Amino acid sequence: MNVLVTGGAGYLGSHACLKLLEEGYGVVALDNLANSNSKSLERVQKITGKTLKFYEGDILDREVLGRIFSEQKIDFCIHFAGLKAVGESVQKPWEYYNNNITGTLTLLDEMRKAGVKNIIFSSSATVYGDPAQIPITEECPKGSCTNPYGWTKSMIEQILMDMYKADNEWNIVILRYFNPVGAHQSALIGEDPKGIPNNLMPYVTQVALGRLPQLGVFGGDYDTPDGTCIRDYIHVLDLIDGHVKAIKKLEDNSGLSIYNLGTGHGVSVLELVENFIKATGVDVPYVMKDRRAGDIPVCYSDPSKAERELGWKAQYGVFEMCRDAWNWQMKNPKGYEEE
Ligand code: NAD
Ligand code: UFG
Repeated sequence: MNVLVTGGAGYLGSHACLKLLEEGYGVVALDNLANSNSKSLERVQKITGKTLKFYEGDILDREVLGRIFSEQKIDFCIHFAGLKAVGESVQKPWEYYNNNITGTLTLLDEMRKAGVKNIIFSSSATVYGDPAQIPITEECPKGSCTNPYGWTKSMIEQILMDMYKADNEWNIVILRYFNPVGAHQSALIGEDPKGIPNNLMPYVTQVALGRLPQLGVFGGDYDTPDGTCIRDYIHVLDLIDGHVKAIKKLEDNSGLSIYNLGTGHGVSVLELVENFIKATGVDVPYVMKDRRAGDIPVCYSDPSKAERELGWKAQYGVFEMCRDAWNWQMKNPKGYEEE
């Protein structure tokens, strides 16, 4: 069985390529390297001792998609490709809608032309907006997103649901990720954000490294036990394991399904920092700052549907997430760039 992994060179995509190779799947990765480095895929091949096929190209480019489907026998697609910086999406809405939505429409069209109608889509807990209930189940109504990035996820979900309604030959799994962090234990692949990180864990690892002076904690006056926001951090290896389980589901012609991928445990910003210091022995100086616009106070999943239907449950805790994120950052202080 062969899997097309769009966004395969990225943070989650590279971990997926690795796991799929380990599980015996053939892997075809497509990435335009807009936010990644093809070294990630060289390292995936080094770790596994197996080879994959890499196409440097864009999901908006019908020619490259057509070439992939004519040159390779693809059984499933895991669709990670997309732009994901929340703040940037507010500045560049057209670019985000075009890349993420037109890109997905183009991919879906080329897939159906090629008769490949099995797809796993990377969605996000952001589609719940300010969630109507905690913990968040898949039945929780979708909410109003605070940024164009979030809307692209919400709209693509709708597109996939309507495509399925019109054509039941599609098998679609929508996975709503909570907060993926950590890295493969080899410390050869990991998260490598360009510039100053927007997300908490990469910011923490760069402060620990001494590349950034201190962490700013966005808001200490939320209605939470320690006043800081609560999130559901999930180890990237657990998250990717959920995708392998989702492929098995597609193999059974499962139609359309939606799952949360989270641990079900809420962790505050300060708890994450404490855990990081405990797991690594490295200090992380921080200062309290004002709230960040658009942040919701509490967001964590009820992941029991994925356990029931996919037989999937997260195995790693915050300690391992911090340890592995740090190992990667420490051994690759500049990410995939050469020192
Ligand atoms: P990433 O930026 O590391 O990976 C995305 C990859 O897609 C990059 O390698 C980028 O170069 C590529 N890409 C972007 N536009 C493309 C295009 N038009 N054609 C081909 N390749 C393109 O991000 P990630 O963290 O690995 O995220 C993967 C997916 O998961 C994204 O869709 C993201 O929105 C979603 N997601 C991520 C998180 C998270 O916190 N990491 C949370 C929820 C959802
Ligand atoms: N935070 C800080 N300081 C920082 C960075 C973050 O205090 O320097 C705080 C944020 O205010 C938030 C928490 O850490 O309370 C987590 O923030 P992230 O930016 O790491 O993650 P978010 O929950 O805001 O968003 C992430 C992804 C989104 C995705 C969402 C839900 O960035 O793309 O999870 O899956 F939509």
